[in-house]
Order: sequence, then structure tokens, then C-alpha cells
Amino acid sequence: MTDCLREFVLAIETSCDETAVAICDTEGAVLISNVASQIALHAPYGGVIPELASRNHSADLKPLISATLEEVGLEWADISIIAATSGPGLASSLLIGDTTAKAISAALGCPFYSINHMEGHLLSPFIGEGIDIPPHTALIVSGGHTMLVQVNAVGNYIILGSTKDDAAGEAFDKVGKMLELPYPGGPQISERAEKGDPAAFHFPRSMLDSGDAEFSFSGLKTSVRYLIDKQPKPLLEETLNDICASFQAAVVDVLVGKLQQTAKRNGAALIAVSGGVSCNRSLRERCDGVAKEEGLELRLAPPCYSTDNAAMIAFAAAARRRAGITGSSLSSDINPNLKLDETG
Ligand code: KG4
Ligand code: ZN
Repeated sequence: MTDCLREFVLAIETSCDETAVAICDTEGAVLISNVASQIALHAPYGGVIPELASRNHSADLKPLISATLEEVGLEWADISIIAATSGPGLASSLLIGDTTAKAISAALGCPFYSINHMEGHLLSPFIGEGIDIPPHTALIVSGGHTMLVQVNAVGNYIILGSTKDDAAGEAFDKVGKMLELPYPGGPQISERAEKGDPAAFHFPRSMLDSGDAEFSFSGLKTSVRYLIDKQPKPLLEETLNDICASFQAAVVDVLVGKLQQTAKRNGAALIAVSGGVSCNRSLRERCDGVAKEEGLELRLAPPCYSTDNAAMIAFAAAARRRAGITGSSLSSDINPNLKLDETG
């Protein structure tokens, strides 16, 4: 047992291929964030196999919850709120975390918060800064989503624009596959991009000048395909690195350009960037440059909370509670297609 004045949130995240459990206090301070990664299991297939993901969530979740409590020296009696991701994601994966969390909540008699995975990403840049979320313009760049969001308050989100086709992370992963790099392609491409020339090949910056907050990455992906087809095989190491650097430069130009334009249009004083792709070093540096150029404050999700994790779910539950938003019914359902603005 610890300080009885502190209340703790235990959160579960199983929306895709990572089994994750975390605990934060109701002020948003993260005590522990554990992730049992399934990346190695899915890598031989070049993508996530839903059946394999849910079977492993089922096997890994219970021991991970016990280990998480034990590591921080907490008991069930110390937990006041249970949270789980209810969507978007793979239905069979979401169900494991959602039903486990509801069962614990019923057994403990404490509130259950069903959390939108995208809200978890959205608020993650503020982890470690207390629980109050200031209004800002946000860019979420993950494997499944690319969107610009106006955050007015916790639970009050306006989607300003999103991708019409592939998400930025999806484009990284698909190009990685074309280049026969191990899955997931994002980290592989960014590592090789460091050694390549970003000006070696010119790829399109789709919709950069469209005047709105929409994105499209499928044309870029096709251009990379055509370029690879024209190269002698096997690809030289130098060519491979140059393709990675040039592709990454095109994605980053669009993401950063759109974020800058949108922040200006909205008169934002603060911008925030989250999601798996926000691990990308070039993207982080360029966001920093834009923030300095425009005199904006910048919050980047810490790399350990950029890719899927449960700390962001615990933090979102704590933030919702602080904002006076009550918990969810135990008869609430998962929603694999849940939209960010359906939260709250
Ligand atoms: O947020 P996330 O863990 O999962 C979703 O909710 O989709 O994001 C995973 C995505 C993958 O597409 C992965 O390739 C990409 O984030 N990613 C990166 C980097 N690290 C992860 N993309 C570019 N550069 C990176 N360093
Ligand atoms: Zn995610």
C-alpha cells in the first residue's frame, strides 16, 4: 500500500499488436508503462495478423497486469480507476483489453473509462506536464491515422483534416515492404535515411498547397514504386539509402508544411505532435524549426509514448476525469472504427 491520498488509474491497451499495461496517478504522473511487443511475431508476415494478435493478447495480458502491479508495489485496493482502449483498432484485439478491464472494474467496484486510442495519442505530448491540457493545434501521425486536430479542451476535439488514403506510417511501412526491409518499415527507413541523400530523387509533395488540412500519401507511394522498378537489381546500398532519405523528406515536408499552415490559419500559440511516426528524428527536428520560426510552443510526444502504449490511455482517463467527464457504462461496446470526435 502507498500514500492513501493518491489515486491511481490502471489502463490496458490492446488495439493492435502491442499488449500494454500502465499506471498513472489522477494528476497524470506515470508510475509505470509496460509493453509486451508482438512485433517479432508478426514480422515474418510483413504486417499484423489479427488472429495471432488476439491470441497473444489473451496469453500475455494477465501476467503483464500482475507484473505491472508488482513492479510498482501496488495492490488492487490502491487502484481507483480502470481504463481500456475501446477503438479504433482490430475488433478481436480490442475485445481482450476491453472485457478484461470491465471485469476488473466490476470486481473492484471502481469506475471504468473506455478510451479512444486516438485521444490517447492526441494527449500523449502532455504526459509529464500535469493534467491540464491547454488549447492547441495537434498533428497525429500513426500507422493507421494522419490528422490535424483543433483541441479546445479535453473531450472537445475538431478534426480539421485527415488523410484521404494511406496514413503516413502506413506509407512508411508499405515503402519498407517494397524495399524488402524488415517490418515495420518506419524505423528501418528513418535509420537508412540518416545515411542517404534526401535530394537524390524527387518525390511528389501531394496536397502540400491544397489550402486545407487534408493529406494524401498514395501517389507518393506509387512514385517510389516506379522509381524502384527502374533501378538495376539488386539495389545498391547507396541507392537504397537515398530512396529512404528522399521518400522520408517528401513525407516530412508535407507533414510539417501542413502543420505550419494549419497552426497559422487557426492562430495557434501551441502545437503538439504524436503517434508512432513522431519518433522520426527528421520530423521532430523540422517541427522544432517551424515552432521557432513561427514563435510557437511545441510539445512532441516522448518517444517512449509515441508508439502504442497504455500510459497514454491511463493519462487520457485521468485527464477526462479531471475535466469532469464521468466513466463509461460496463455495457458500452468496442468500436473498431471509432472516430476521434465521437469521444466525449
Ligand atoms: O502509433 P503507432 O504505434 O500505431 C498506430 O496506432 O498505428 O504507429 C506505428 C507506426 C508504424 O507505421 C511505424 O512504421 C511508424 O509508426 N514509425 C515510424 C518510426 N517509428 C515508428 N515512422 C517513421 N519513422 C520512425 N522512426
Ligand atoms: Zn496507435
